Amino acid sequence: MTDFFIGIDSGTQSTKAIVMDGDTGLVIGKSTRNYDLISGLPSNYKEQHPEIWISETVAAVKEALNSSKINVNKVKGMGVSGQQHGFVPLDKSGNVIRPAKLWNDTSTTEECNIIMQRVGGFEETIKLVGNPVLPGYTASKILWLKRNEPENFDKLATVLLPHDYINYILTGISVMEYGDASGTILMDIKSRSWCNKIIHAIDSDLREKLPPLHSSGEAVGYLNSKSAKKLGLSTDVLVSAGGGDNMMAAIGTGNTSPGKVTVSLGTSGTIYAYSKNPIIDPLGEVAAFCDSTNNWLPMICTMNVTVATELCCKLFKINHIDLEHKLQAAQAGSSGLFFLPYLTGERTPNMPDSSGVYYGLKPKNFTESNILRATVEGATLGLNYGLNRMRELGIDPYEIRLTGGGSKNQSWVKICADIFDSEVVTFRESEGAALGAAIQALWCYGRHIGPGEPIAKITERLVKLDESNRINPNQKNVKKYINLQKSHDRLRDKLFLS
Ligand code: XUL
Repeated sequence: MTDFFIGIDSGTQSTKAIVMDGDTGLVIGKSTRNYDLISGLPSNYKEQHPEIWISETVAAVKEALNSSKINVNKVKGMGVSGQQHGFVPLDKSGNVIRPAKLWNDTSTTEECNIIMQRVGGFEETIKLVGNPVLPGYTASKILWLKRNEPENFDKLATVLLPHDYINYILTGISVMEYGDASGTILMDIKSRSWCNKIIHAIDSDLREKLPPLHSSGEAVGYLNSKSAKKLGLSTDVLVSAGGGDNMMAAIGTGNTSPGKVTVSLGTSGTIYAYSKNPIIDPLGEVAAFCDSTNNWLPMICTMNVTVATELCCKLFKINHIDLEHKLQAAQAGSSGLFFLPYLTGERTPNMPDSSGVYYGLKPKNFTESNILRATVEGATLGLNYGLNRMRELGIDPYEIRLTGGGSKNQSWVKICADIFDSEVVTFRESEGAALGAAIQALWCYGRHIGPGEPIAKITERLVKLDESNRINPNQKNVKKYINLQKSHDRLRDKLFLS
């Protein structure tokens, strides 16, 4: 008898829920609920109220269940994927004190420097926990609260991350799962334990406000009665550990054993690979994160991928299909126009105060298609800068697996093959994070009721590539893009890093 599992991907622009058939991995019900950031804040503030994640999770799960038409008693587990790094501050009654500062909030540069200075500098921070403190990460957001809103800091009783907060509402239990916890920079990623030196550099009482660290393979608990009632499910549904969206998309793209590299074209752009051991970049560009299967996930994150294309679609009043066609209408290299995509600042390289730049406009290339193509090329070249750093650290893919919204755009997939100079392939299910969340739920459920099955075996069975969409690079374009990459990096350095 088939069991079903629910995957929830609570993202920056939407919450997606899927219902997965546990035998085949097929998605048999889905729903997407869109929303926005809090408006009217200074441009480097990126905040959302966690309440919206809860209301939209409830709505999305109910819609997905309705569309699946299954008997809800056959749902055995659910898993939650969340935006990494967001800071959810709770008071002693478990209420949210203020909106969450998100992964793309860049208002905490000063706090990053203070924390790193207090523990002995940039290199020393990497030695301590595996990563530097960068504005996107959680650590500096906590110090920001202490320095800027002391009355709120005084109320702080528990620090949670977005997906751990959703788990808390679903089960009543607050823990922090390893993969997502690695993005706080409060945890030493090598030993998977809290790092007291960094924690004390923020506040001497912070340690007691951090929840217990939790294995990615163990369920957090069962749905509590309040949440079960809201979702129309029973209290027998197990809630898995969940994880950050990139960690869950790693599972949903079968990146659970060595040799694969996933590129996610979402609001942010990320590139990651499974690793059996921690991989630490002394330059701090490749993030040394844990994954959500109790292993590691070296990763590159750039902040402006579909952010840029969505703004273009809005400006030119076109939809995603138009975008795909218009990309084809322009030549590789956009006839000399190029784009530095730093609309909301950048993390790789670390340039929180940078901004977007169109460069090389001339009357002959001043067309909608060139502007759109330059936008996609600029976002992809930004990612390729990070991929080259990963290559320097020995992570060299023979094939790149593409996921996220941008991977549905066939023209963009071809641009990826040419810029990455690698074979690329997409998936039957393009929403890797939601699928990964459902698969992790199945894995945790199996381990809960018996000996369980290795996660790599489960993903091998359930994650399906779209072999009809395996693309090889066009060598003529590869050459063009190698030169364009040099110009892109040079202009970036001149404008923002010199
Ligand atoms: C990764 C990162 C983003 C968010 C997006 O470090 O900050 O990819 O996880 O939700």
